[in-house]
Formats: sequence, structure tokens, C-alpha cells
Amino acid sequence: MERKRYNVLPQLYILLILTFTSIFDTTSANANQAETYIVNLESPNGIVFAKPEDLQSWYHSFLSSSSIGSNKKPSILHAYHNVFMGFAAKLSADQVKAMESIDGFVSARPERIYKLHTTHTPRFLGLHQNFGFWRGSNYGKGIIIGVLDTGITPGHPSFDDKGVPPPPQKWKGKCEVAGCNNKLIGARDFTDSASGSPLDNEGHGTHTSSTAAGNFVDGANVFGMAKGTAVGMAPLAHVAMYRVCDDFVCSESNILAAMDAAIEEGVDVLSLSLGGASVPFYEDGIAVGAFSAIQKGIFVSCSAGNSGPFNSTLSNEAPWILTVGASTIDRNIRATVHLGNKALFNGESLFQPQDFPQNFLPLVYPGLTGGQQAAWCAKGSLTNIDVKGKVVICDRGGGIARIEKGQIVKEAGGAAMILHNQVTDGVSTVADAHVLPASHVGYESGVSIKTYLISTPSPVATITFHGTVIGNKTAPEVASFSSRGPNMASPGIIKPDIIAPGVSLLAAWPVSVENSAHTKSTFNMISGTSMACPHLAGISALLKSEHPDWSPAAIKSAIMTSAGQVNLNGDPIEDERELPADIYAIGSGHVNPSKANDPGLIFDIKPDDYIPYLCGLGYTSKQVGIIVKKTVTCSEGIEEAELNYPSFAVTLGVDDGKAFERTVTNVGEANSNYTIKSFSIPGGMFLGISTTELKFTELNQSLTYQTFFLRNRDFEVTTPYAEGYITWGFGKYSVRIPFSIKFV
Ligand SMILES: *[C@@H]1O[C@H](CO)[C@@H](O)[C@H](O)[C@H]1NC(C)=O
Ligand SMILES: *[C@@H]1O[C@H](CO)[C@@H](O)[C@H](O)[C@H]1NC(C)=O
Ligand SMILES: *[C@@H]1O[C@H](CO)[C@@H](O)[C@H](O)[C@H]1NC(C)=O
Ligand SMILES: *[C@@H]1O[C@H](CO)[C@@H](O)[C@H](O)[C@H]1NC(C)=O
Repeated sequence: MERKRYNVLPQLYILLILTFTSIFDTTSANANQAETYIVNLESPNGIVFAKPEDLQSWYHSFLSSSSIGSNKKPSILHAYHNVFMGFAAKLSADQVKAMESIDGFVSARPERIYKLHTTHTPRFLGLHQNFGFWRGSNYGKGIIIGVLDTGITPGHPSFDDKGVPPPPQKWKGKCEVAGCNNKLIGARDFTDSASGSPLDNEGHGTHTSSTAAGNFVDGANVFGMAKGTAVGMAPLAHVAMYRVCDDFVCSESNILAAMDAAIEEGVDVLSLSLGGASVPFYEDGIAVGAFSAIQKGIFVSCSAGNSGPFNSTLSNEAPWILTVGASTIDRNIRATVHLGNKALFNGESLFQPQDFPQNFLPLVYPGLTGGQQAAWCAKGSLTNIDVKGKVVICDRGGGIARIEKGQIVKEAGGAAMILHNQVTDGVSTVADAHVLPASHVGYESGVSIKTYLISTPSPVATITFHGTVIGNKTAPEVASFSSRGPNMASPGIIKPDIIAPGVSLLAAWPVSVENSAHTKSTFNMISGTSMACPHLAGISALLKSEHPDWSPAAIKSAIMTSAGQVNLNGDPIEDERELPADIYAIGSGHVNPSKANDPGLIFDIKPDDYIPYLCGLGYTSKQVGIIVKKTVTCSEGIEEAELNYPSFAVTLGVDDGKAFERTVTNVGEANSNYTIKSFSIPGGMFLGISTTELKFTELNQSLTYQTFFLRNRDFEVTTPYAEGYITWGFGKYSVRIPFSIKFV
């Protein structure tokens, strides 16, 4: 199996796996043709432009000179004010060359094309109506969440403004569509689409927005499944939609323009369920835009990517972003496969036809005779295989969406589909809105089904549908598709930071989802780290509402150090292999909103603290300047692990010993005495802490200590990576700091 990984091409992907189970690459534009460039500038001699118009005309001066030698004067597509000094314009390579000599020019590069990557989750995450954190945080009242996505559906019951106050005075946003109210306070289109409307044609943006901040909707369900009250994480927060993706394609110049506007208009939180290949941060529009956001105190939540379980497949790796991986909840929508030999295998499907005949039907696996394409049930591959009226086994993958496989089987006359995980997907299944009776089964189950098939002259099977089953004790479990570390752009920072629900989640949908059962719903169930990201946007809105003085880094720290490590059975959270998930899959762990609200201690980072860190990555002063938007002189940088981050990624050579300082701020109780409550140290190293207790006498007090990582040369290291943690504890407080070690 050839699985494409993020590599050389500057592609970004919408982090949605409803329709795309793997990534497809497109080629970049022809070098001779004009394409959209992102141009970074720096004001010459520190000139300050008093008025936005002055800045604009200075931007334009670059294009007048660059038109020399070409017949058409290029025009500015977007002039940026907040994200950085510079603009986007359609330029040819020659025109760019002409600009390079102008005073104030820093860099120009072709834009990247980013592709698009819950009734039950609040309760699963411990949020309850009328008591606890939800009530304490006022359900996010007064907080504005800006969502960059495919648009939104005004008038959907999830965006009803019952109980939502008018937006705060500072709000300067716009609504470019009918139907805005106190819940949906902004909706703008930044795509190049003809409609110019922020209405959602895909569903993705409606789904993510309602996950972050949808209001309470009773009786929500999809085809009768997962019935309950649908509600977002911050039900009384405001939503502002910035439409940046059209047909799952999201261009960088438009994303930057939307971030520029969102910062200007006064959002408090940004949610971006999209991302792309790993590149240096100064070339990553989302990282650059997010830095401007955190400079203004705006929290940024981003999806980790859907390219797991392979390692180093992450998007959004910058330390000032919260990077969110996807895990399961304790709900399955069960579809059980029955074989002629009486064996049963539980799988999942959102489509639960009650009229599917329960008599056995012939079972067929097109891959047995038709080769790889047929094994995947690829389009056109079933023409010479008799699948009519049969239960058809299709392998997951091959770049064909799971639901599309069902469509192909149905068109070929198949009666039902068994969707079989690849070995790398393990037990990780998804309840999709299939178009025919289907069951998505784990790898081992599928192997047993195929073993039966080849050992029986006339194999038969059927599927029975059992609806919503709550209480799966292995939840949360890391989804196989959730992208994994190590971090490529910054190996000294652990990513993802956190995991949150992202599998088979119900949330708002623009249109009635219809299938052959002719049941309708304005909710839909989809999966992806795209669904996990807005959970954290909503939770950070609750935290901001409760703690208006916390910086974005403080909120991140609160979320990370309080995260959970165990599933509902009390065992370590597992991955799709049913093995304890490692730090590159779960980061600091599974989000626990109520604990994040009262973390005890926080590791804070000021925006300027990232400057020595960025210099330490080996970036030039100019490259760091693009990110931090000021003139920087990199003299010496710090090691990545020296950033006051709430986790560590440390590389240790044979005789290495490294010490890193951490500063913690007391946000728990004034008089508190934290000691090391628990720890885990892998073989091959020693760990030391410069103090055994952190004794605070007042709130907001900060204390500094050192953590030493020492290689044990007497220990023969058998794996290149190891992990551990230390936990500071005092009373009810537990502050967990995980670390990874790379032995070199
Ligand atoms: C990455 O994957 C390879 C092969 O699957 C494995 O040997 C290696 O240990 C992995 N690295 C990490 C950090 O998990
Ligand atoms: C729990 O969910 C996992 C996948 O998320 C699945 O493999 C397993 O069969 C489920 N367990 C039960 C009891 O349904
Ligand atoms: C702090 O707590 C530790 C462990 O409970 C205890 O040994 C120590 O005496 C305490 N220190 C102070 C100053 O209270
Ligand atoms: C804590 O310190 C920060 C900044 O130093 C300040 O903004 C905040 O008001 C302080 N909070 C309390 C409770 O003293």
C-alpha cells in the first residue's frame, strides 16, 4: 500500500474525512504564469503609516514598479494590516523579481492552497446544564468565536439566539447574509466564489460552528440515531463565520485576509479546522496569522490533521496554536455482521435501515479476483464481478471515500457492504451516513470474515442494525486517522497538544440529509480532527469567559496540564491497535474542561518569549520578523525546550545532560505547597528537579525551577523514543507535565 504523506508539495487539506479518507496531491502552477503571491514587507527606516490608506498606497508602489517589462499592471488582491505588513497579488516570476530591489521588500512566495481537512459530547466531557463549569462560565456568554471554514447556515436552530445577549461593544464585524442575530453576529465570504455569499454549500462550516457554540436544540438526531439535545461547547457564545473554503479548497491569501479581518473586528477565539503540509512557520499563513492573533490575546485552536496513524503527519505545529487530535466518544451506532457460521462481528453505520431483510445473502470480496482496485471497490472495478444482491466486502483506503465505496457497490447492484479496515486502522471505526446497508468493521473482524469467506463453498452473511449504543468503556480512544507527531517544523515541541472528540459526531447541517430511508434531518454525523478542533475553541471560550485575564498561552497550559490519561475503564487511553496511545498521538491527553477551569498552576508565555525560540530554530532575523511583525535581531536563540511550554520534547545524546527552566504561576489557592505527586521516568535516563516543593503564599505568584534530563550511559537503549511525565500536586490540584525523549 502506498500511502501519500505530506511532502514537498505546498498543499493544505481540509481536515475532514467524511469524503476523503486520504490525501491527493495536485501540482503547483506553471512558473511562467501569474499566480497568487504572498508578499512580505517591512517599513523602510521604521516609517509609521498613520492611516491605512497610506499603507495601501505604499503597497501599491511595489506593483507600479513591478509592472515594468510586463504588459499588465498587477493589482492587489488583499492588503494586510494585522497579520503582517504586506499583500497578496497575482504576479509573474518576472514581476516578483522586479520588486525585490525595492526598499522594504522582505520576501515573496506563491501562496499555498490549503484543502479542507453533538448531542452527546458535552455530557461525555463532563459539562452539565445548570451546574458546574458550564454554569460558572455562563456558557461562554460575551465571547466571540471566529470560525474560518466553508460558510454557515443562518436560521438553523443551532444558531438561534435564545438567551444570547447582544455582541459586546468592541465588535466591529459584518454580516453579509440575511439571518444574523445575537448568536450569529458575523458572516463574510473571503473565497473567490461567484456567489460572494457566506452560505455553507458543504456542511463542514455549519457543523464546526455548531460544535463550538451551537445553542441547545432538543430532539436532534440523524435518521433517528444519537437522539438527544444537540448543543455546542459554549452555547451562549457568539459566532462569526469567515468563509475561506470553496469546494474543500482554501487558499492561503484568503485565509490570511480572513484572519486579518477577524483580528480587526474583535473575535476572542479563532477556530480553524484546516491545515497543510509541514513548512517553516514563516511560510505557513496559519502560523503567521495565528501569531498576530495571540499578540492581541486571541486564542487559536486548530485541527491536527487526518493523516494518521503514520508519524510526522501533523498540520499546525506552531507552539502558539493549540493543536487538536481526534478521539472517540462512548457512543457506537451499531451494525452487526452475521456470518453463515453463526459468527457475529460488531461494526458501525449511521444508516440503520429497519427493513433490511434478515435472511442470509451471498458474501463476496471483489479483491479476491479483481485485484487491488476491486479490493477498494474503486469506481469501475466491479463491472466484471458479480455483486448483484450480495453482501460486498470493501477494503478501506485507496483514496476513495468510505461513503463513495458504498455508492459504487450500490450502483453495481450490491445489497450491502462490509467496510474492512486496513491493518493500520486497527479497531478504529466510524458511523457514516452510508447509502446502502453497511457495517464498518475493525481489521481483525474483517480478517475473520474473509477467512470464513475463503474457507466456505457458498459463504453467506447479513447485517442487523442495533442503533445507538452508549457506554463504550474503551472511549476515549485515539482515532486511527488522527495525525501523529513527532513535530517536523519544531521537533522540540510536542504536538498534538490535546485530543478531543472527533469520531462520528452529530452537529448542525445545512440541508436535510437524505438517503434511501427517506428520513430527514438538519443534523449530520461526520468525523475528523476538524470536529475535534471546534470543541477546544468552545472550551477556550468558556475559559476566557471565566478567566478574562488569562493569556492564550495560559489557557493552553490550563487545558494541557489538566488533561485526562485514562478511558472510562480507568485504563490508559488506547490507539487503534488497542495499545496505550503514545505521546505523539495524544499529546498531553484528553481534554477535561472542568479541570482546565481550575488548573492550580499555569505555564505562561508572552508573545515576545517566542522570539528567541524562533531564532533558535535557525530562522533569520527577517524570517522571525515576518512572524512577530517587528524588527528582530537574532543574536542567539534558545533551545526549543526552553520555551515555557507545559510539555517537553528533549533529545539526548549518549553523554547528554540538559537542564530547562520552567516558571509556574499560581492560579489555584493563595497558600499552597506543591510537591511531586507522581512521575514516570523511562529507562535510559535520569530526571531531576531543582526543588521538591513549590510553596506559594499568594495568587498570581510565579516560581521558577529547573528540570534536568540526563542520559544513563549504563542503560542500553532499545527504542529511539521514550516518554514520561511528572505531576505537581497540591490538594485537589494535579499539574501534569509530559515529556518525550529522543535518544540519539
Ligand atoms: C515512526 O514510525 C516508525 C515505523 O513505523 C517507527 O519505527 C518509529 O519508532 C516511529 N517514531 C515514533 C516517534 O513513533
Ligand atoms: C468501542 O468502540 C470501538 C471503536 O471505537 C470498537 O472497536 C469497539 O467494538 C466498541 N466496543 C463496543 C462494546 O461496542
Ligand atoms: C509541603 O508539603 C510537603 C508534603 O506534604 C511537606 O513535607 C512539607 O513540610 C510542606 N511544606 C510546608 C512548608 O508546608
Ligand atoms: C495577575 O497578573 C496579571 C498580569 O501580571 C494581571 O493582569 C492580573 O490582573 C493578575 N490577577 C490577579 C488575580 O491578581
